[in-house]
Amino acid sequence: MLDTIPRMARVKAILQENEIVKTFVLDITVGAEPGQFVNVWIPRVDEKPFSVAYDDGHELHLAIAAVGDFSRKMHDLKVGDKVGIRGPFGSKFKVAKRMAFLGGGYGAAPLYFFAKSAKDSQIDFIVGARSKNYLLYTDRISKLENVTLHIATDDGSVGSKGYNTEVLKTVLASGGIDCVYTVGPEIMMYKAAMMAKEAGIDAQISMERYMKCGFGVCGNCCVDGSGVPTCVAGPVMDLAEVLKIEDFGKYHRNNLGKKINF
Ligand SMILES: Cc1cc2nc3c(=O)[nH]c(=O)nc-3n(C[C@H](O)[C@H](O)[C@H](O)COP(=O)(O)OP(=O)(O)OC[C@H]3O[C@@H](n4cnc5c(N)ncnc54)[C@H](O)[C@@H]3O)c2cc1C
Ligand code: FES
Repeated sequence: MLDTIPRMARVKAILQENEIVKTFVLDITVGAEPGQFVNVWIPRVDEKPFSVAYDDGHELHLAIAAVGDFSRKMHDLKVGDKVGIRGPFGSKFKVAKRMAFLGGGYGAAPLYFFAKSAKDSQIDFIVGARSKNYLLYTDRISKLENVTLHIATDDGSVGSKGYNTEVLKTVLASGGIDCVYTVGPEIMMYKAAMMAKEAGIDAQISMERYMKCGFGVCGNCCVDGSGVPTCVAGPVMDLAEVLKIEDFGKYHRNNLGKKINF
């Protein structure tokens, strides 16, 4: 059945993670698996997609960066307020034995959910941010036994100085990685995809396009080239699928279908 009607959920807790990201803990489970997303509806405001940062069968966590009108309204919510949730939607990450994760922006949150569930895998988890004040979930990630955490900041305030893709290059050069997983800014994901291709290994990329319905009906999130709706074929897509997308790493489309260059 199509998930067209939101289920109302109460905000149980709000955690300030860094300068622009808060985690919203909701008193609902949607049975989401790592990689999937939900649509969040604030009555009389709007509805927008967000990756699931955690779902343990009791509560749902969403890590939301304040970047515009809707996400700022989310940040204004208080404990006890209610939002509508539709989903889970989209594809999930597929596990491999030795995995390299590359997260930028809010991307570390859905990757953390995956790392926590992939207990039998060895993971090199690379988190990048412009400075230490924008790092996300590094405390949680460092507590996972099967994970080696690498941090990169543009200004060198913590971890290695420079882009996190440079750390990925080193991790891949050391050998043994079966698959690269990446969530975050598209230019970063593009570089990661090209590195995986060069290394001859697979990658899973969380493709974000402007989404409305979330289940393949409105056509708003379709990409150029393969034409697939990323809300159904993605957000998590294999390298081979992503390489068929003409706009990957170049542009996306806004709510009116207008091209916006990255
Ligand atoms: C599958 C998926 C998972 C996402 N997961 C997260 C997450 O975990 N945390 C998080 O903070 N953000 C996530 N986003 C992005 C989030 O949906 C947008 O940042 C948010 O909608 C911004 O809305 P706004 O009104 O605050 O800002 P706006 O000023 O409207 O937009 C800011 C940016 O967000 C993009 N955006 C706006 N509306 C949408 C939409 N309906 N669909 C896709 N992109 C949009 C715009 O293209 C623009 O680049 C995800 C997007 C997708 C598609
Ligand atoms: S969001 Fe409607 S088809 Fe993807």
